[in-house]
Amino acid sequence: MSEPVFLSMPEHVAIIMDGNGRWAKQRGLPRAMGHRKGVEAVRETVRAAGDAGIKYLTLFAFSSENWRRPEAEVSDLMGLLKAFIRRDLAELHAQNVRIRIIGDRHSLRSDILNLLLEAEETTRDNTALTLVIAFNYGSRDEIARAMVSLAEDVEAGRLRAREITPELVNARLDTAGIPDPDLIIRTSGEERLSNFLLWQAAYSEFVFVPEYWPDFGRELFYAALEKFAARDRRFGGLSPQAAAVGT
Ligand code: IPE
Ligand code: IPE
Ligand code: MG
Repeated sequence: MSEPVFLSMPEHVAIIMDGNGRWAKQRGLPRAMGHRKGVEAVRETVRAAGDAGIKYLTLFAFSSENWRRPEAEVSDLMGLLKAFIRRDLAELHAQNVRIRIIGDRHSLRSDILNLLLEAEETTRDNTALTLVIAFNYGSRDEIARAMVSLAEDVEAGRLRAREITPELVNARLDTAGIPDPDLIIRTSGEERLSNFLLWQAAYSEFVFVPEYWPDFGRELFYAALEKFAARDRRFGGLSPQAAAVGT
């Protein structure tokens, strides 16, 4: 399949990969099978994003609230992440993909943390797609950690409270250095953020896809890019056409 050409391309696409459990239930399978199938959708989507020339792709893989699930499911999800990094790191590296992890690292098991650090380290100088994996990620937790870091600087006299700007807050978030997502896609028909990139989503476009995540792939991804290309982003100003006519 040749790559479609879009009028305007997002630099950064973020995806809330939802619906693995319902995909499995629909087929009378255990939820774990849905998560396993979801990994295949991840592979296809990463390739499609790279082929389309997307610079940043963020995938919401495990939220800070997902610990509320039964222990067996949490452990399945941890296992799948481990298996994904082990199996796919070499190929991602060969594809010139740079991996970044966002989320709270401190409460992760050391075997998982070490794998994530290894993935970041191995791919740090790659220049094609940046794949951002949101793992043990919650936006409120991220913002609170950024606040703590700023408050520590104020306490130590390195920073004055009134000098805090949106740019300074930005620089303390896990996403420091990564542009805000232009497009956020959520699968499974749910239309909410579930504590994902609350700060960064200030001007994101949203595309909600009814299909469950395991059914997502190149075709649905490009359909979402097409929807994005048709959107008129104004960032509080006027669209170029309206500005030109002065209406
Ligand atoms: C998304 O699928 C994967 C994670 C949240 C880790 P779900 O597991 O949330 O699937 P549903 O929403 O229950 O169908
Ligand atoms: C959001 O999905 C988290 C991930 C995709 C990792 P959830 O399935 O956890 O969200 P809620 O609970 O339906 O809001
Ligand atoms: Mg869900």
